[in-house]
Amino acid sequence: MGLSENQKKLIQSISQNDIIAAKKCAIACVVEDTTSKNSWFCNKYKTILESSGNNMIELPHDLKNILCVEDVSNSFKEGRYYLSVRESAVFDNIIRMKKVNEKLMEMGIPYLNSTLLYGESGTGKTTFGRYIAYKTGLPFCYLKFSDLVDSYMGSTSKNISKAFSYAISNPCVFMLDEIDCISIRRSSSGSGSSGELARITITMMQELDKLTNDIIIIGATNRKDRIDEALLRRFSLKHEVSVLDKKEKIEMVHQYLLDIRMNFPEFEISKLVNNIENQSILLNELIRMIALKIAEQVA
Ligand SMILES: Nc1ncnc2c1ncn2[C@@H]1O[C@H](COP(=O)(O)OP(=O)(O)OP(=O)(O)O)[C@@H](O)[C@H]1O
Ligand SMILES: [Mg+2]
Repeated sequence: MGLSENQKKLIQSISQNDIIAAKKCAIACVVEDTTSKNSWFCNKYKTILESSGNNMIELPHDLKNILCVEDVSNSFKEGRYYLSVRESAVFDNIIRMKKVNEKLMEMGIPYLNSTLLYGESGTGKTTFGRYIAYKTGLPFCYLKFSDLVDSYMGSTSKNISKAFSYAISNPCVFMLDEIDCISIRRSSSGSGSSGELARITITMMQELDKLTNDIIIIGATNRKDRIDEALLRRFSLKHEVSVLDKKEKIEMVHQYLLDIRMNFPEFEISKLVNNIENQSILLNELIRMIALKIAEQVA
């Protein structure tokens, strides 16, 4: 039997030292093999290849330290993501607006499909952005303002413009994370760094106004109160992502365990969710519990 197209592409990518492309081809190879004799091997390596986190899309040199663009189609684990009823409604709205936007674009009417997520740390704002990218099949284009301001204060406006130029020519889910880092209310700005931050906020608003309809904007912050009113108005929907209640936390744990085909007694799950503040800590504690159980089995 000759080489398949995917196997040929795999060999080609390796010979070009293109590890990202090679991983994609390797995944395609294990997916195309449906023989039962290889099923264990294929499942094992599909999981490993998909979770290796190397799904970054190559960017032009001048954008490499500014923007991250990821193909989440293989890396996002939908079965382990708990979508609450509240975020499900937001998701439906974003998808509806995507369709509306396509119609508006045909009529030459610009409109931003923009949602601002706010709420405490660890409640899943960034993860929700990745989920939208996964469900829409769009690349996840990620701009984190805390990094941008820390390392490039002097040239932040220029870098924001560069990132937006990329997004405008590549339909994507464009996540503007931790936007409170740049956007302070302009009335409270003065000279020095706060004056610079106010100028950066204006740049960002100008860039948002240039965006085309086929981009989905997701902003995130845990300090909505710090954000300039005019910038807030650029977000058509503002949604608070809250800490899950006890019942939802239990459902989240069950869903995760189902995905990895593992079981824990109900009283242990109940003990786990009690006194846990948010989704992030819950997930970390659950993984610790899973690791301990595996450690017992391998001992
Ligand atoms: N609904 C969820 N289902 C499964 N895992 C979740 C969920 N929400 C959050 N997590 C997990 O919790 C961790 C933290 O989530 P995330 O970084 O999205 O929170 P955040 O709200 O963006 O926090 P911060 O404000 O600190 O940036 C991630 O590892 C994520 O996988
Ligand atoms: Mg976040």
